[in-house]
Amino acid sequence: MDPKLLTIEALSVHFHLPEGVARAVDGIGFDLQPGETLGLVGESGCGKSVTALSILGLVQSPPGRIEAGRILFESRNLLRLDAEGLRRIRGRDISMIFQEPMTSLNPVLPIGRQVAEPLMVHKALSRSEAMAEAAAWLDHVKIPAARKRLDDYPHQLSGGMRQRVMIAMAMVCRPKLLIADEPTTALDVTIQAQILSLMLMLKSELNMSVLLITHDLGVVAQMASRVVVMYAGQVVEEGRMTDMFDQPFHPYTRGLLKSMPRLGDRRAGRPPRLNEIPGTVPSLIEAVSGCRFAGRCPHVFDVCRKQQPDLFKIGAGQRARCWLKRYPDRRKPDA
Ligand SMILES: Nc1ncnc2c1ncn2[C@@H]1O[C@H](COP(=O)(O)OP(=O)(O)OP(=O)(O)O)[C@@H](O)[C@H]1O
Ligand SMILES: [Mg+2]
Repeated sequence: MDPKLLTIEALSVHFHLPEGVARAVDGIGFDLQPGETLGLVGESGCGKSVTALSILGLVQSPPGRIEAGRILFESRNLLRLDAEGLRRIRGRDISMIFQEPMTSLNPVLPIGRQVAEPLMVHKALSRSEAMAEAAAWLDHVKIPAARKRLDDYPHQLSGGMRQRVMIAMAMVCRPKLLIADEPTTALDVTIQAQILSLMLMLKSELNMSVLLITHDLGVVAQMASRVVVMYAGQVVEEGRMTDMFDQPFHPYTRGLLKSMPRLGDRRAGRPPRLNEIPGTVPSLIEAVSGCRFAGRCPHVFDVCRKQQPDLFKIGAGQRARCWLKRYPDRRKPDA
């Protein structure tokens, strides 16, 4: 039996826009084991959310179109399912938490009803059974006086509370896979820490797999056991979290890590170094012949501009899309 819960193979998602075809996701692949937390990271616009939306069949179409690839969930290709088949999986086997809860909570429905709804739809619970379970879940995600708040509307709650309601909604059916797209980016740091530890607790309780999408490597370090780094619609590096932090290979991954603020600098009386990666992500519309990172890479050499590198094996479970693997002597000493 295939031990993988989710396998994405050669997935390409393009947006057909008046100005041209934007290759938002361009031949990506990765997999997720049961119970594993995988971090998907990369700069804004690199295709993280489009990847997540593809899994649940939620890419806006038109202009979006899934051009190629397979998304296997427990060996079934989700891209082959019809709308009804996807609806059955969504919220029951796979659920999703979004960055901004107000866009996914219904503003005119009390929160109790919203948490109860998936139980009525997927588990055929009666309304009163579902409401009782919803109250228990709101309590579980630490909404104070949960029972009294069942009839509250989303606008009556703080941002952190709304995110807890979203988590309760995502968890009620005990999904096998949770996709969390920037679940804490909109929250202040103390609430962020509370939400992350709540997610960790529920994850181990339910033995769920989590696809955690974020541009915050600190969050990844706390939560994930493996990391996939995307750049301009492609996977550029993947590996175990500890390897990626200790020995990142790709210059882009190295740049991301260097751009993390360091407490050590401040303790030593130096201003914190925030090394931004110079330059911007290339247009997804123009064809690129070489490496997509070439224009920003401190190590760039002739081959990089001509030919796209493969994902080369670096070590156990670590791969990087970089010509430095073939031509190690071209690596310049890091500045
Ligand atoms: N509905 C859409 N119509 C047109 N283009 C889109 C649409 N959705 C996404 N794109 C394009 O696809 C690319 C990838 O977008 P995506 O939302 O996946 O980025 P992201 O990695 O999630 O970024 P962020 O960190 O800002 O959330 C972007 O260049 C974006 O412009
Ligand atoms: Mg996004």
